[in-house]
Amino acid sequence: MASLPISDSNFVLGQAPVFGDPSLSTNRTFHAYVHVPFCRVRCGYCDFNTYTASELRGASQAGFASVLRREIDFAKAELQRQGFAPLRPASSVFFGGGTPTQLPASDLALMLKGLADTFGLASNAEVTTEANPDNVSLEYLSELCAAGFTRVSFGMQSAVPEVLATLERTHQPENVPTGLQAAKQVGLQNSVDLIYGAPGETLQQWRSSLEAAIAMQPDHISAYSLIVEPGTKLARQIAKGELPEPDEDLQADKYELADELLSAAGYQWYEVSNWSRSESTRSAHNLAYWRSQDWWGFGPGAHSHVGETRWWNAKHPATYQKALENDQGIQPGSNTPAAGSERIDSSTRLTERLLLEARISDGISIVDVKNSNSHANRVISQLIADKLIDGPAALKGQIVLTLQGRLLADYVVRELLG
Ligand SMILES: C[S@@+](CC[C@H](N)C(=O)[O-])C[C@H]1O[C@@H](n2cnc3c(N)ncnc32)[C@H](O)[C@@H]1O
Ligand code: SF4
Repeated sequence: MASLPISDSNFVLGQAPVFGDPSLSTNRTFHAYVHVPFCRVRCGYCDFNTYTASELRGASQAGFASVLRREIDFAKAELQRQGFAPLRPASSVFFGGGTPTQLPASDLALMLKGLADTFGLASNAEVTTEANPDNVSLEYLSELCAAGFTRVSFGMQSAVPEVLATLERTHQPENVPTGLQAAKQVGLQNSVDLIYGAPGETLQQWRSSLEAAIAMQPDHISAYSLIVEPGTKLARQIAKGELPEPDEDLQADKYELADELLSAAGYQWYEVSNWSRSESTRSAHNLAYWRSQDWWGFGPGAHSHVGETRWWNAKHPATYQKALENDQGIQPGSNTPAAGSERIDSSTRLTERLLLEARISDGISIVDVKNSNSHANRVISQLIADKLIDGPAALKGQIVLTLQGRLLADYVVRELLG
């Protein structure tokens, strides 16, 4: 799940984001996210920025890759104009959505080529696409591999037909192992996303899904607690009493079961919702977000973070397309699809680092916590006593969550922030 929250507040199309001091980026790597905002149908639980064919208001799925290439030109022009030159090669690229695999593989290849020709790719760059199990084949995946993709992440969610039905997933469960096998055959690193806590899902059903995921031996597994997003069909069904609300205690049991089964099968947690078979198969792209590196998010609604600034693009593909269409070509300072931005000052930057890095297994240094919280010593001692952070790691200067701490990660982070 590599996209970030999407918002249309401060919607001022036409103002190029101002990145601020380039020296802040000197020690950061550069990454690219490409948001492909198309799905065949919308799943009942999902509030990602995605559109079915009838919601596109004239935006063209077929023309998407060439519109996105314009934003790549815009990014190059703006980064150079604002002193972020020479351009840094992309250390990772992530195509997320929506459903990137709704597009022909040749369109994904075209966008990746645009990024590689413009920025270059670091020598061991990770290049991932999210995939719906229903729209990939061996041919599709080998075309992606030939184009430079290195990794594929399947939206599996569950192996249990009743749970998939509650989630309104339309994919055929048997297409997940077939797709994963094909990914292995063509040499792509691979991952599956699971969701736990669908209304009515039992612990036994969740166990079946975990066992089915483990049996396929993917390189990486993400397990997300279902979020009931306001405005979704699922939220309305729960509000009307048609479906029960997810139970918090059962969710905790499901997280513990996930960690138990995944650890026993050789997967190690490296972020609260992510487990990997080895260090080399962790998601480099997501780690870049959690470590506050620089990234440009291309596409409708995508968020970016460069230098001192975060900004986000217009959400609707038609608005996004209009902002980038201009017969005069890309003009620095114009043609921007950005809809709003915010400057991140140094204290906000530290707070955000704590929020993100505390959730990864490398943890965050106690020195950073002390810089943000004058009661850090007392808080840390209490968290160790409550078995929420690891005592031996703290003695070595790092705050690392225990299993109980991962279950209460938001509470621990609030305490650390003071
Ligand atoms: C963009 S989707 C993945 C690709 C593709 N669209 C699919 O669903 O097969 C990214 C992931 O976000 C997760 N996700 C989406 N909505 C969620 C929600 N409300 N709660 C928890 N996880 C969610 C799902 O696990 C999903 O696989
Ligand atoms: S297919 Fe993926 S992005 Fe599309 S609605 Fe479902 S979960 Fe959301």
